[in-house]
Amino acid sequence: MVTFTELEEKQKQFKEDVLMGLNSSPKYLLPKYFYDGFGDKLFQQIMALPEYYLTDAEMEIFKTRCKEMMLLVSEFKDGFDLIELGSGDALKSSQLLKCLSDNKVNYTYYPIDISGDVLELISKTLPKAIPTIEIQAKQGEYLEALKEVTRISTRPKLILFLGANIGNMYPQEAESFLLELNDLLNPTDLLMIGFDLKKNPWTIFNAYNDSQGVTKEFNLNLLKRINRELDGDFNTELFEHYESYDPCSGACKSYLISLADQTVSIGSEVLKFEENECVFMEISQKYTLKEIDALAGKGSFMVERHLFDSRKLFSDVILKRK
Ligand code: TRP
Repeated sequence: MVTFTELEEKQKQFKEDVLMGLNSSPKYLLPKYFYDGFGDKLFQQIMALPEYYLTDAEMEIFKTRCKEMMLLVSEFKDGFDLIELGSGDALKSSQLLKCLSDNKVNYTYYPIDISGDVLELISKTLPKAIPTIEIQAKQGEYLEALKEVTRISTRPKLILFLGANIGNMYPQEAESFLLELNDLLNPTDLLMIGFDLKKNPWTIFNAYNDSQGVTKEFNLNLLKRINRELDGDFNTELFEHYESYDPCSGACKSYLISLADQTVSIGSEVLKFEENECVFMEISQKYTLKEIDALAGKGSFMVERHLFDSRKLFSDVILKRK
């Protein structure tokens, strides 16, 4: 249960982060705020888009390779903890959970997510689909929540970090994240990270710039959320979505562009936007296999194995501490 003061605390943080971002130069908003109720639904629509290949590709990996994943954890004879950072609705990982439970493997599933709603949902639905599952949801920031799990259990671990999650960090941030993660793991623990691979640049560009305009709506929803929750008065018709993909660096970036000189108020704060001014929304970094190797090395991990989909668009990479 979320208490009233926790809710107030969250709104205060939201407002602080929004004002910090919109008073910076260049302006930015934090992508973790995309996912309110409307944002969750729009993201579901993005995942169902014909252009957005990522979810299908990773789903294919989970539908076809669970036996292999199970073999990897078979060395954990006395059971293990399966910890998922950013579980969301656990659609992909539930394939693995089902496979483990069907084969009577002894494990506890710890989904970790920022969204308490989604955790409440899967804490109800997963035990219906997989009656023998042991599930302990933890709401919070990834590493904080992971620390808490390491305090309550010393069993070996398989950590999942799926989707485009690591791609939503700059390579530098990804490196520090891996180093921090490394500190929390034992040498026999396993880490599986989803990486979207560099491929024909148009395939990537189109995945983030769909013809139906769902991605645009998804970005604009954050302005609408500010209107709803922070007493803002954004006119979303005066903003458009702009996408860029740099095939050399692999950085795919989403922006909102102000279409006019305008002022926007958020509560008692008044903010100025110039015509054509950008607001940076999110990076989705793409990697080659070599770049994945290099990043793993910098984070003190070794690549044990790649699990690709049949079109080699995506890889779930198995890593171990170096
Ligand atoms: N974070 C996800 C990704 O990088 C979700 C996403 C899809 C997204 N399209 C987007 C985030 C456009 C921001 C803008 O794939």
